[in-house]
Amino acid sequence: MKGVILAGGTGSRLYPLTRVTNKHLLPIYDRPMVFHPIQTLVNAGITDILLVTGGQNAGDFLRLLGNGKDFGLKHINYTYQEGEGGIADALRLSEHFADGQPVCVVLGDNIIENNVVAARAAFEKQGCVGGHIILKEVPDPQRFGVPVFEDGRIVRIEEKPQDPKSSYAVIGIYMYDATVFDYIRRLKPSGRGELEITDVNNFYLEDGRLSYSLLDGWWTDAGTFESLLRANALAAETGANKL
Ligand code: G1P
Repeated sequence: MKGVILAGGTGSRLYPLTRVTNKHLLPIYDRPMVFHPIQTLVNAGITDILLVTGGQNAGDFLRLLGNGKDFGLKHINYTYQEGEGGIADALRLSEHFADGQPVCVVLGDNIIENNVVAARAAFEKQGCVGGHIILKEVPDPQRFGVPVFEDGRIVRIEEKPQDPKSSYAVIGIYMYDATVFDYIRRLKPSGRGELEITDVNNFYLEDGRLSYSLLDGWWTDAGTFESLLRANALAAETGANKL
């Protein structure tokens, strides 16, 4: 399986912290944010990685990460997302890199206490066919993609619902087979003008090809002042990316 890290965007929710740098270069306690998604992939045994970035500071990623040998990466590749097309638009750029193989996609601002080894094993058990998402119970599901359950099965995922139908968030770590790129081609921009990863997951669901697992340990994004502060505190208190 190959890994894709999405680290573009303007980080506008974090202005002025992101006026002269990319969100994913900001610190999470003792290391730059982007080290976390890289470590998440490495801990799951994925060492062939594409980093999708954008904005004004793309070159800083190359200066920081180089050829990835400090992380034990086999390959690190870089590409550049123009504009603000959303997560699924950024993922589209990885089709050539994926080359028909399954991918683990990590949003660059998602930080976890432990690892996704069990989720990878579950996806492999289904032959790396279809998609696999990871859920975490949260106090503020309206900020995220939220699964709607019927009889213990997910029937759809709602993006940032005002009235969440469950207390789970779909975290920003996804495993997909190569059909993800066909689904992306079918997407239409959402209300916020972006190609939504939640719509991709709903395509997999409609086709009966999406499984899920629950994450153990804490999870947080780091894209707002509150969540950035929380991510720093959690990483300092307990450490992150534990095996
Ligand atoms: C994105 C996704 C959302 C997901 C979240 C995880 O939201 O759209 O479904 O739950 O990442 O961090 P964003 O915070 O990028 O708007």
